[in-house]
Amino acid sequence: MSETLREFPGVRAARCPFDPPPALRALQEDGPLARVRLEDGTTPWLVTTHAEQRALLGDPRVSADVTRPGYPVQTPKAGGGSLSFILMDDPEHARLRRVVQGAFTVRRVETMRPAIQKIVDDLIDDLLAGPRPVDLVEAFALPVPSLVICELLGVPYADHDFFQDNSKTIIKRDVSPDDRMAAFGRLAAYLDGLVGDKLTGPADDLLSKVAAKVKTGELTRSEAAQMGVLLLIAGHETTANMIALGTLALLRHPGQLALLRDDDDPKLVAGAVEELLRYLNITHSGRRRVAMEDIEIAGQVIRAGEGMIMPNDIGNRDPAVFPEPDELDLRRDARRHVAFGFGVHQCLGQPLARVELQVAYSTLYRRIPTLALATDLEKIPFKHDGQVYGVYELPVTW
Ligand code: HEM
Repeated sequence: MSETLREFPGVRAARCPFDPPPALRALQEDGPLARVRLEDGTTPWLVTTHAEQRALLGDPRVSADVTRPGYPVQTPKAGGGSLSFILMDDPEHARLRRVVQGAFTVRRVETMRPAIQKIVDDLIDDLLAGPRPVDLVEAFALPVPSLVICELLGVPYADHDFFQDNSKTIIKRDVSPDDRMAAFGRLAAYLDGLVGDKLTGPADDLLSKVAAKVKTGELTRSEAAQMGVLLLIAGHETTANMIALGTLALLRHPGQLALLRDDDDPKLVAGAVEELLRYLNITHSGRRRVAMEDIEIAGQVIRAGEGMIMPNDIGNRDPAVFPEPDELDLRRDARRHVAFGFGVHQCLGQPLARVELQVAYSTLYRRIPTLALATDLEKIPFKHDGQVYGVYELPVTW
C-alpha cells in the first residue's frame, strides 16, 4: 500500500501552480497502478499512466455511477443532487446524451464562431475602456463562456450572478453537504422554471429542444431540468478557468505567449489550445469510476466493486506519450491529451470549448499585446478547494 495521500487530489503549489503534486509523479514512476488511502479510509486504485487511464475509461466493465458501492466519491462528505448523465452508465447515459449531442458537433459549433468572436471583441472593448488594473476573471474569463452557454441554452444572462454563485458552491470541495444540496436545489428549481417557460413559449434554443422532449414523453421534466443544470455548470465553469489559468501560464511563459500574439495561423492557435489543455488540466481531481467485473490490467487485477481514480493531470504529463511533459510547448502535437476525458463520457462540449478558447486566447493577446500581471504570482489565489482548478482572481494591466 502506498503512502496516505491525505490531500489527494489537487494540491499543486508545492513547486509550480501548473504542475501535478510531486506525490503523483512519484507514484507514476513506480508504475501505472497504486492503491491509495483517501481521507474516508477507502483504498481505491490510482491510475497514473496515459495508456492505462484511456484503457480503463474506454472499458465497458467500468462504471461512472456514483451510487454504486465502491465508487470513490470526491469527498467523504459529498452531497448534491444528480448531475444528469455524467454520473450514469449506458444505456441511460446514452439515451440522455443523445438528446443534446447534436448541438455540440464540430460543424454546429463552427457556425457559432462569429458570435463568439463578437462576444470576445465586445468584452475586450469594455476592458480597454475601463480602469486598470482589472480582474481578468470577472471582466473576461467568466463572462465569455457564460454569455455563450446562456445564448445556446436560452438562459437569461441577467441571472448570471445567481447561477455562477450556485455552481461555484456545487463544485467546491470543502462545502457542507447541506450547503451543496441547497445550491443544487436552487439551480434545479431555476432550470425547472425555465423548462416550464420553454414548454409554453418555445424559442430557438437548446432548452426549448429539451423541453419539447418532455412534451413528447421522451424525458421527464426533472430529467430535463437536471440536464440543464449539467450543461449550465459544465458550460461555463470549465472554460472560464481555462481562459484565466491559460492566460496566467502564458504570462509566465512570454516566449510562448509571443507565438500566439504574433501569429494568427488557425492551425497554430488550435494546437496551442490543445497544449494548454494538456498542460493545465483544470479537471485535475480525476475521472472516478468503479469496476463492475474483475479487470486485468498492467499485471494487476482490479476486482469488481473496487474504485479507481484517474487524475488527468498526471496522465497528461506521462513522458511515454509527451516528451519533456512539464514543458509548455505550444508547437507540440498534444492532441492525445485526456483533458476532456476519454470513452463514452468524453466531454460533450469539447468542440465548443475549443472554439471559445481559440477565439479568446488569440484575440486577447493580439488586441492587448502589453497585457501583464498586476500582482506577484504568490499573491494570486488558486482554487485548491475546487473540483475544477484555476484562479479566483487574476489582476492584469497593460
Ligand atoms: C475547457 C473546457 C472543458 C473541459 C476541460 C472539460 C472537461 C470535461 C471532462 C474531463 C469530462 C469527462 C468527465 C468524466 O469522464 O467523468 C467532461 C464531460 C462533460 N462536459 Fe466538459 N469540459 C469543458 C467544457 C465543456 C463545455 C463548454 C460544455 C458544454 C456544455 C461541457 C459539457 C460536458 C458534459 C455535458 C459532459 C458529460 C459527458 C458525458 O458524461 O457523456 N464541457 N468535460
